[in-house]
Amino acid sequence: MTEPLEVLGLPAVICSSEMTRVIERARKLAQINSAVLITGESGVGKEIVARAIHHFSLRCQKPWVDVSCGALPEHLVESELFGYERGAFSGAMGRKEGLFELAHQGTLFLDEVGELDARMQVKLLRVLDCGQYFRLGATKRTTVDVRVVAATNRDLPAEVRQGTFRGDLYHRLAQLQIVVPPLRQRREDVIPLCRFFMERHHFEKDLTAPVITALENYSWPGNVRELRNVIVSACAISEADELKLADLPEGVRGASSIHTMMDVRSLAQAIEDEDDDGGCGEGLLQEAEKRLILDVLARMNGHQERTAKALGISSRTLSRKLRGYRVDMGANPSLGSELMS
Ligand SMILES: Nc1ncnc2c1ncn2[C@@H]1O[C@H](COP(=O)(O)OP(=O)(O)OP(=O)(O)O)[C@@H](O)[C@H]1O
Ligand SMILES: [Mg+2]
Repeated sequence: MTEPLEVLGLPAVICSSEMTRVIERARKLAQINSAVLITGESGVGKEIVARAIHHFSLRCQKPWVDVSCGALPEHLVESELFGYERGAFSGAMGRKEGLFELAHQGTLFLDEVGELDARMQVKLLRVLDCGQYFRLGATKRTTVDVRVVAATNRDLPAEVRQGTFRGDLYHRLAQLQIVVPPLRQRREDVIPLCRFFMERHHFEKDLTAPVITALENYSWPGNVRELRNVIVSACAISEADELKLADLPEGVRGASSIHTMMDVRSLAQAIEDEDDDGGCGEGLLQEAEKRLILDVLARMNGHQERTAKALGISSRTLSRKLRGYRVDMGANPSLGSELMS
């Protein structure tokens, strides 16, 4: 296994070509001082990418400050970010520097930036535009030089259209963008990540072939976070030297049957057996074909053209077959993967 990449003290497993490209993009964008917005589903590793940007930037020797906008109560966000003067509000016994000041000349990571309320969105926009703000209760402006990196798992452009997130702030935060793909689109990372988490938790176990198949096939809606939980709890429960299918949660275990079904030899045998029983094996063949098509469709994230190409059939044939399975991709692009999970 390749050594994990160390980003500001966080080891990161980067094996797939998709994640290698993401880190390469982070390395390049790190050289520019503009704000970066990192998007991707929950648990994909957006924080690792944010840290990588600071790590590769000219600011790497300067402070890295991170704040989870979703974790702070609304009334605290402002005093945390901007700090306050003594007596600014009851309880402000002394002067406190805000996170913007602490991040001076370095990078401020605004995690879960989509959680900021409308009032804070305006305040943040102002600081980003001019690099100046007032501490709470202050009469003098504070000037900072901070590079902002933000992350969200929300669809901010949609929220801008709905009017719940300011368009001007969105464009200010998203001067540069990095999209972190979900784990199901970079299956090469799955087993290295498993081995990494096992090693971190001091589990010395082998993974049996069906376990590897199930882990690689499962769709991981909770991404790396879910994978870590699954592998750690499976290892904690298992008493054997190797992890077996039965140690995995039911949903993950089920993903191994896709391959079992695709095992050409057992399929051929099953058809022959059905033939011996007087059947013609057609039902089984159709079922196998359906599973294969839906499996590839799920792997291609519902992308019909790529699915057709991978299967070596025309797009027309594919959509005819999908209609036959009553998979309406237009109405619900994720249906393919749902049917398989
Ligand atoms: N490539 C990776 N190598 C090692 N650990 C990883 C990797 N990607 C993610 N993780 C770990 O998985 C967990 C989830 O990652 P992270 O917190 O970055 O997710 P996220 O994209 O910020 O999700 P959310 O939107 O829910 O905050 C963390 O503990 C992180 O360290
Ligand atoms: Mg996060």
